[in-house]
Amino acid sequence: MAKTKTAFFCQNCGTQYAKWVGQCGACKEWNTIVEEVIQKEKDIPWQNSNDVKTTSSKPVLVGQINASSEFRLDIYDKEFNRVLGGGLVPGSLVLLGGEPGIGKSTLLLQIALRLNLRTLYVSGEESLKQIKMRAERIHPNNQTCYILTETKTQNIFKQINDITPDIVVIDSIQTLHSDYIESSAGSISQVRECTAELIRFAKETNTPVILIGHITKDGNIAGPKILEHMVDTVLQFEGDRNYVYRILRALKNRFGSTAELGIYEMQGDGLREVSNPSEVLLSKSDSGLSGTAIASTIEGMRPLMIEIQALVSTAVYGTPQRSATGYNAKRLNMLLAVLEKRAGFRLGAKDVFLNITGGISVDDPAIDLAVVAAILSSNSDVPIEKNVCFAAEIGLAGEIRPVQRVEQRILEADKLGFLKVFVSKNNKIALKNTKIDIVLVSKIEDVVNDLFL
Ligand code: TYD
Ligand code: MG
Repeated sequence: MAKTKTAFFCQNCGTQYAKWVGQCGACKEWNTIVEEVIQKEKDIPWQNSNDVKTTSSKPVLVGQINASSEFRLDIYDKEFNRVLGGGLVPGSLVLLGGEPGIGKSTLLLQIALRLNLRTLYVSGEESLKQIKMRAERIHPNNQTCYILTETKTQNIFKQINDITPDIVVIDSIQTLHSDYIESSAGSISQVRECTAELIRFAKETNTPVILIGHITKDGNIAGPKILEHMVDTVLQFEGDRNYVYRILRALKNRFGSTAELGIYEMQGDGLREVSNPSEVLLSKSDSGLSGTAIASTIEGMRPLMIEIQALVSTAVYGTPQRSATGYNAKRLNMLLAVLEKRAGFRLGAKDVFLNITGGISVDDPAIDLAVVAAILSSNSDVPIEKNVCFAAEIGLAGEIRPVQRVEQRILEADKLGFLKVFVSKNNKIALKNTKIDIVLVSKIEDVVNDLFL
C-alpha cells in the first residue's frame, strides 16, 4: 500500500515525528507516541476516513426537526432492545465490553442467529468450527447468518460488498488490523484506525455495526479511550462467571438513556432473558434462616429485590475478619462501626461475612438497612420473617435516612407479595391501594424492637 502515508503523533501535545520514539521531545511525556494515517488511497470505499464526504448541510430550526420518525431495528431480544433505548439505530456503532468468558460472543452470536435479517458475524478469535458448535447449541438451522473468520479490515469490507449484510458483528475490535498501519493488532493506532473505517462504513451504508471490545485489568475497554468517544453506544456486560446471572448496561448511549439495564441467565443453550429479576434472585426456601434479609434496590431504572446474607461469628484469631461479596467492604466496616458506637452492639470481636446472593454486585446505599438487619439477625440468631424487606440508608450518626424513588421500591415489594417494608420516617410516601405495611423508622433501635424483641 504505497500510497498510504503515516506519521507518529504525541497524544499529549500533538507533536509529529517521522519515527516512533519512547519519549516526546516536546512535552517529555513517555509512551504517548502513536502511529496515525495521514493520507490514504482514495478509490476503496470506507477507507478514506480523512476525506469525509461533504454533503453541505444547512442550519435547521429546532422546531422543524422531525425526531419522532427515527427508525429502530427490533433485534428480538427485549433486554438488549431496552438497553439500546428501543432497538438498534441504523448506521450506529455499538461497542460491547466485558471480561473474558462472560458471554459477549454468545450474546451477539445469539442475536445474529435469531434475527430474520442477513447478518454477518466476523470473528477474529474463533475458528468456523468453534462458532458452528456454539451456534448449534444456541439456535440450530439458521439460514441467514454468515460467519467470516478474518482479521484484515480490507478483506472484511470486500466480503461485506459481496453479501451486503443488514447488520455486522465484529468479534473483537482488538483482533482487527488495517493494512494502512504497521503496528500489531490491538495497538492503539490499529484499534483507532479500524474503528474509524467501520464508522465510515456504518454511516455511509446505514448498516448497524456491533463491536466486541476486550477490557483491561481495571475494567476499562482496552485500546484508546477515544474508542468510546467514536462509537455511538458503549455497553457493558458484567456478572460473576461462577454464577449464571449477567447484567447488560449502557455506559454511553447517544440514542437513549443509560439508566436501563438488561438481565440474562446463562444456560446450556445460550443466554435467556430474565424479565422478572426479583423473583429469580430471591431464594425459594420456606424456612426462615437467621442472617438473611431482603433489600429493595434499584439498578438503573428497574427495582430489584435482592437477598443479603450475613454470618457473624466469634473471631478465632486476634483480628476479626470482615469480608463482603457483592458489597463494598469499606461500607460494611462503616456500618459495623455505626452499630458498635451508635446502637451499642458489640461486634468488635466478631468475624462478619456478607454476601449478596446471585453473584450480583450492588452499590445502592438503600440496601444499608437490609445489611444491618442481616448482621443483627445472624448475631442474635433470630431469623427475620420471610415477607419483610428493607429500603433505607444508614448515616454515620446511626440515623435511618431516606432514599430516592422509594415508592417504586415499595411497589415492587408489594407486587412480589411482601407484607412489610421498613423505610425512613423522612421519606415522603403518597401511595394508596397497597397491601404492604409500610413501617417508618428513624433509628436502628426501632427496627430491632420490631424484629428481634
Ligand atoms: P463467551 O461468549 O465465549 O465469552 P466471551 O466472548 O465474553 O469471552 O462465553 C463463554 C462461556 O459461556 C463459557 O464459559 C461457556 C458458557 N456458555 C454457556 O454456559 N452456554 C452456552 O450456550 C454457551 C454458548 C456458552
Ligand atoms: Mg469471545
